[in-house]
Amino acid sequence: MISDDQLIEQATAVLRGNDVEGYTKPSRRLYPHQWNWDSAFIAIGLAHVDWPRAVREIETLLSGRWTNGMIPHIRYNRAVEDYAPGPEWWPDVPVLDRRQVTSGISQPPVLPSAVYDVGMLQPDETRRRRWWAQLFLPLREFLQFFARERTVGASPLVVIVHPWESGADNSPRWDFATGRGFRPSRPYRRVDTTVVDAAARPTARDYDLYMYLVELIAAHRYDLAAYLPKTPFAVYDALFNAAWYRSALDLNRIAAALGQPPAVDAAALGAFRGAYRGMLWDEQAGLFRDFDVKGGTLIPVDTVAGLMAIYGGLADADESEKMIDAYYERSPGCLRLPSVPPDQGGFDPVKYWRGPVWVSINWMAIRGLQRLGLVSKAEDLRVQTLDLIRREGYSEYFHAHSGQGLGGNDFSWSAALTIDLLRRPEVPA
Ligand code: DGY
Repeated sequence: MISDDQLIEQATAVLRGNDVEGYTKPSRRLYPHQWNWDSAFIAIGLAHVDWPRAVREIETLLSGRWTNGMIPHIRYNRAVEDYAPGPEWWPDVPVLDRRQVTSGISQPPVLPSAVYDVGMLQPDETRRRRWWAQLFLPLREFLQFFARERTVGASPLVVIVHPWESGADNSPRWDFATGRGFRPSRPYRRVDTTVVDAAARPTARDYDLYMYLVELIAAHRYDLAAYLPKTPFAVYDALFNAAWYRSALDLNRIAAALGQPPAVDAAALGAFRGAYRGMLWDEQAGLFRDFDVKGGTLIPVDTVAGLMAIYGGLADADESEKMIDAYYERSPGCLRLPSVPPDQGGFDPVKYWRGPVWVSINWMAIRGLQRLGLVSKAEDLRVQTLDLIRREGYSEYFHAHSGQGLGGNDFSWSAALTIDLLRRPEVPA
């Protein structure tokens, strides 16, 4: 059996292999640019083996930030041509540093939490605080951007405007919108299905909606208020909002270490928590769900996103234990955690976010369970996640039943989070 040290060595080699002068590609051919939440997770792994390189990863990501504080989901590498959609689909993006080119949407905001983790992995407190002090304002602006420009009416919950923003592109949660026949006005090309098996990727119908939304959002200069009346897709995503809340808590810990007032005050946190629990909880499902803001209804689809309140600190230990037990019960014969339970319509054990197991999701659940004191549940999941990696390598995702590695190989966040799970088996401070 591969030892832990060998596993860390291999994971480090994956990260080095995907290193492109200052950022880490999520995977060599499938995702050649810099992705937002990928880099946040990658930095956590890098911090164990090369702290300055972790710092660089985050600096590079931040170089793509916008004048309004948003950190986009892709920061493009101009030298790479073999990717679609390229920056030509995102005209006139208001990037602070005009030399940078980016996409026009964001991704689950795990970055402030990652910066907390990376900081804690620096034993020299002065160095840690100096770094946090440099990042505090951009991170606060990132969270405030969502609170200011991505909320609707009085609710503090954050609206996502594209399935790519959820990070879970083809989740059956979004079928309500893909099924409606939206198509972009221009032809587009795909590269992903030439790199990996099309059966494990989103369908043409999914992509028609993705590209339609890209055109709509760009045509309205990335201003939600302008395209809200027209878009079929404006959603309170349970995972995205849990990540926002967790990041607010972690940024407040950074603020406390710097002797600054909290980035998000107690009243705002309380209102957010109340809205999340009041709006997204589905009593019958025993799980949090996502909310279709345009339709004014909860989306009746259960997925692992509904468990992410555990990561966010939005559910207590009792609730979390019940939720995860129920999720396991309805997923017989599945490795943990299937991204969709098999009794949910739309489940597909090989298809990207429609069933396969993801290391990032497991890592979020593990850290959340640990923080709640649900130590043996967390440990079971940690051990099983590492077994999967030992057996299949650093795949992008894993077949929900067999565990077979799927999608891109040598996937950076799978490698980075493996390092973290091995080096910090227990709940970090
Ligand atoms: C994206 O750009 O976020 C998509 O997940 C690529 O497949």
